[in-house]
Amino acid sequence: MTDETLLLGQTLGFDQNPFQTPIDEAASYRRRGGVLIREGLIVTVGEADTLKAAHPGVKVVDYGEGLITAGFVDAHVHYPQTGIIASWGKRLIDWLNSYTFPEEMRFHDADYAAEISKLYFDLTRSHGVTTMASYCTIHPESVDAFFTEARARGQRVVAGKTCMDRNAPDGLRDTAQSAYDDSKALIGKWHGVDRLSYAITPRFSPTSTPDQLRALGDLWAEHPDCLMQTHLSEQTDEIDWVMGMFPEARDYLDTYEAYGLLGEKGLYGHAIHLEDRERARLKEVGAGVIHCPTSNTFIGSGLFDMGGLMAEGQRVGLATDTGGGSSFSMLRTMAAAYEVAQLRHNPLHAAQLMWLGTAGSAASLHMEDKIGNLQPGLEADIVVLDLASTPDIAQRSARANDIWEALFPTIMMGDDRAISDVWINGKRAA
Ligand code: GUN
Ligand code: ZN
Repeated sequence: MTDETLLLGQTLGFDQNPFQTPIDEAASYRRRGGVLIREGLIVTVGEADTLKAAHPGVKVVDYGEGLITAGFVDAHVHYPQTGIIASWGKRLIDWLNSYTFPEEMRFHDADYAAEISKLYFDLTRSHGVTTMASYCTIHPESVDAFFTEARARGQRVVAGKTCMDRNAPDGLRDTAQSAYDDSKALIGKWHGVDRLSYAITPRFSPTSTPDQLRALGDLWAEHPDCLMQTHLSEQTDEIDWVMGMFPEARDYLDTYEAYGLLGEKGLYGHAIHLEDRERARLKEVGAGVIHCPTSNTFIGSGLFDMGGLMAEGQRVGLATDTGGGSSFSMLRTMAAAYEVAQLRHNPLHAAQLMWLGTAGSAASLHMEDKIGNLQPGLEADIVVLDLASTPDIAQRSARANDIWEALFPTIMMGDDRAISDVWINGKRAA
């Protein structure tokens, strides 16, 4: 007998990008909807009564007023930084040297890597994050631990060994050759296994020699179906440092472009202080630009130009950037994206925020045909939101006149208490 489940509640998905299409056309909302799932996939999304009538006897989980939507997709995280999240008072380079590198050094120990992987997946599940693209550390063990845990949980994740062969402490550097060899071996071991995909991961230009960047560019050319993730133009003093290190480069992006590390499947985290040429090239190749708003305010990096980049038609994803970011929650991350956009006089609609945290991030990872939406044929990664999870939220959402007004207080004030349930790959995540 096929194992079918019908989830009932309010339902929200997206037919179009709400940055390009009027909200009411872009969003697909039902006051009393249903999502039929079978063997890990979404089979149908429709009216609750119609689906119930068409599938008599199906197992039903009725969430009442709960809002059923896609699981959150976090397009840029560092799972090894779980233990140092919310470390006080530094800017980027000091923060890396003081907090990040000492912690990442510990991941040569496979047991520690496994322990933090488990903790990270437990924490993110409580926040309804079902897919993430994570940096690991230079240690292949850190990649094995992350993929092993994700696989056991049936999750679709992206990860890669972080490569660094300069400007990092002893014990946290590889070489151009070992970065290439280890990354290649990890691609062979994990890429395409179940729901796992590998991202080639040079940390950022300051910690890779030109030889290492070239080696990883060559590896990407050999494995063009892999994503490539790195950091770009996060802080102004970082950019000055990069330009001093790469005197021939036209700009920061050029330090990647020159070595074969600019492409459609490239993910460029932060991308705050961009030159016109960089924006034009990112758009031209269709690369992913990843907004990390809690990190950008926490580390004091700057205000991402969501309005301008969206108007240009850039591919933009949303991310926590754990642990430079100060939260594991994509709700909190959407709230920060809203606040940052407000400072640029560009208020984002609740639909745009939800799209960024689900379908938009999925598209930045080139996974829009698999995850990030409530649509037939997509994988059944689903969260159910309680739009009245605390008294302060409940009193506001009770006055709402439409779904957006009902949802916005949860985006702005919600936390893990707003996550009523999580389904991963068609199974209720325990
Ligand atoms: N740039 C290079 N590495 C990192 C990192 O780990 N976090 C952040 N926020 N920026 C980086
Ligand atoms: Zn990062």
